Amino acid sequence: MNKEIRAKIIGVGNYYPEKILTNHDLEQMVDTSDEWIITRTGVKERRIAAPGEATSHMAAKAAKEAMKNAQILPSEIDLIIVVTVTPDMNFPSTACFVQQRIKASNAACMDLSAACAGFPYALCVSQALIKSAQYKTILVIAADKLSSITDWKDRNTCVLFGDGAGACILRPTNSNKGVLSVYLGSDGRKADLLYVPGGGSLNPASYRIIDERMQYIKMRGSELFKIAVKKMVDCAHEALKLCKMTTDDIDMLVPHQANIRIIKAVGKRLNLEDKKVFINLEKYGNMSAASTVTALNEAVLKKVIKSDDIVVLSTFGGGLTWGGAVIRW
Ligand code: UT7
Repeated sequence: MNKEIRAKIIGVGNYYPEKILTNHDLEQMVDTSDEWIITRTGVKERRIAAPGEATSHMAAKAAKEAMKNAQILPSEIDLIIVVTVTPDMNFPSTACFVQQRIKASNAACMDLSAACAGFPYALCVSQALIKSAQYKTILVIAADKLSSITDWKDRNTCVLFGDGAGACILRPTNSNKGVLSVYLGSDGRKADLLYVPGGGSLNPASYRIIDERMQYIKMRGSELFKIAVKKMVDCAHEALKLCKMTTDDIDMLVPHQANIRIIKAVGKRLNLEDKKVFINLEKYGNMSAASTVTALNEAVLKKVIKSDDIVVLSTFGGGLTWGGAVIRW
């Protein structure tokens, strides 16, 4: 028996809002076409949260599913980490609102911001806290209501994003399963390739911010594209290297779901057959960090990922940030 303690995912849950926005709906809103969106991105439709439905509402619903699957009570959770770039409010943390909704009264709560790459960041924090025995039952939720920061007049971005939440419960294990390695990286020099310039402390909310549409996502897509492919390949390799594995060991790659062309290029460079790359972005678009978690959870719930499989996560996003992880399921 391997005596090393590590974090293991013991239950997962997803939530998607009911409303579906199709490419045909977008054709009525901006100068675009279903054909352009499918060939350039792979996205066919995405979910949009209802009015009044915030990130914490979606996160709490995903969390309840994960608790049910893990067969644990809310009172057993001792830490809640919400990964998001669309918190309900600047403060308190969205994790505190989730705590309220799921009645996890024994938990400490915090948000983590690492944009689309956020899930490996949360796994890294959870792994360290579980290894050090500070926490025993950690609820990680990646949730975003990107529709609230999407400029519905900008065809360069509005066709890409959607809303949703994915949750998982982590517990210590001394078996050979669980999180084997995490590799993270960032490059703050390129922050202006993908960001929301208005609404924070630099450019607080004002009539000017609204007039200049600075409360919405700004993105330089084609520049990001090339870096995304490189970094997602690199971080998969680095995470594998940390646990002395190679791409031959991969049973399933779960990449960030930003663009089918990025995912295909990453799969090819890692020498993976198509069946070893999990893709679900056609139904949901890019939901920031929630994309990777919900994709992982969907693969698990559909039994595409099975016990003992080596699963590699590979993510990239605003910051810039990137992160890879290797999990033995
Ligand atoms: O999640 C975080 C990480 N995100 C990413 O890594 C995103 C990476 N980038 C991408 O996925 C792609 O760059 C996009 C999907 C955003 C754009 O695809 P692209 O192939 O890089 O297109 P482009 O931006 O170079 O634009 C090509 C053309 C332009 O027209 P001209 O200048 O060639 O006449 C755009 O104006 O496509 C036009 N275009 C559109 N046409 C129809 C841009 N958006 C649209 C649209 N419908 N929605």
